[in-house]
Amino acid sequence: MIEFENVSKNFDNLEVIKNINLKIKENEFFVILGPSGCGKSTLLNLIAGFEKPSKGKVLIDGKIVEKPNKDIGFVFQDYVLFPWKTVLGNVEMSISASKKERRNIAIHYIEKVGLKDFANEYPHKLSGGMKQRVAIARALAYNPKILLMDEPFGALDAQTRKLMQQELLNILKDFKKTVVFVTHSVIEAVYLADRVIVMSKRPSKIIFESKIKIDGERNYLDKDFLKYREEILRHLDPEIGIKE
Ligand SMILES: Nc1ncnc2c1ncn2[C@@H]1O[C@H](COP(=O)(O)OP(=O)(O)OP(=O)(O)O)[C@@H](O)[C@H]1O
Ligand SMILES: [Mg+2]
Repeated sequence: MIEFENVSKNFDNLEVIKNINLKIKENEFFVILGPSGCGKSTLLNLIAGFEKPSKGKVLIDGKIVEKPNKDIGFVFQDYVLFPWKTVLGNVEMSISASKKERRNIAIHYIEKVGLKDFANEYPHKLSGGMKQRVAIARALAYNPKILLMDEPFGALDAQTRKLMQQELLNILKDFKKTVVFVTHSVIEAVYLADRVIVMSKRPSKIIFESKIKIDGERNYLDKDFLKYREEILRHLDPEIGIKE
């Protein structure tokens, strides 16, 4: 379980998040929505141990997060690949196993993200969306207990994005994990999440929370799906400055 207890974070005089209390359960798919600059990436950085709270505590399984933790995988907002390694090399580097096993696992995930034919290419030959898929394959291959994903599908075209959402849910069926996922897409949030929160503008608080309970396969056009979407937008739009 991931817990925030009265967490505030400032950068010098900038109050980014204020008094956040939050519990994310094991194996929960937890989605964070909020306006640009409200502190979504900062929340992930606090969980990952890249940043420390200015006030309050962040705990994982009851222990205060003090430094980066190897049980956590991160897909960053700006995909971070090593330019001198191939696609295969970038994915293999996250796996600890024998050489042969490492290769098999890496290839498995490279196939899952649709890049089989590019396994031996270097990142400069890939499009933005392809690089992001390599970063996703690498995080999945690492097989962490907690997966932090910061707008992982933001650079993908609409079709690939939908495929990747489905693929992520498929992978999670086999390998249970806690996922904390940041997105700007409300549709993506409702499609993926067990629970969604909406954050306000800075200094940001949690202003809305919704458990998504839809039986069976989720479909963007179903009545229930649209009901959740509208309810979330009603809280999110005013923060972004969109008026009814
Ligand atoms: N290391 C840092 N030092 C100083 N200021 C920072 C640092 N990291 C983030 N900030 C500031 O904190 C605020 C929140 O940033 P953050 O990246 O968490 O926002 P975000 O919600 O992820 O935005 P976006 O949706 O645009 O990715 C911003 O104003 C940003 O400039
Ligand atoms: Mg961000």
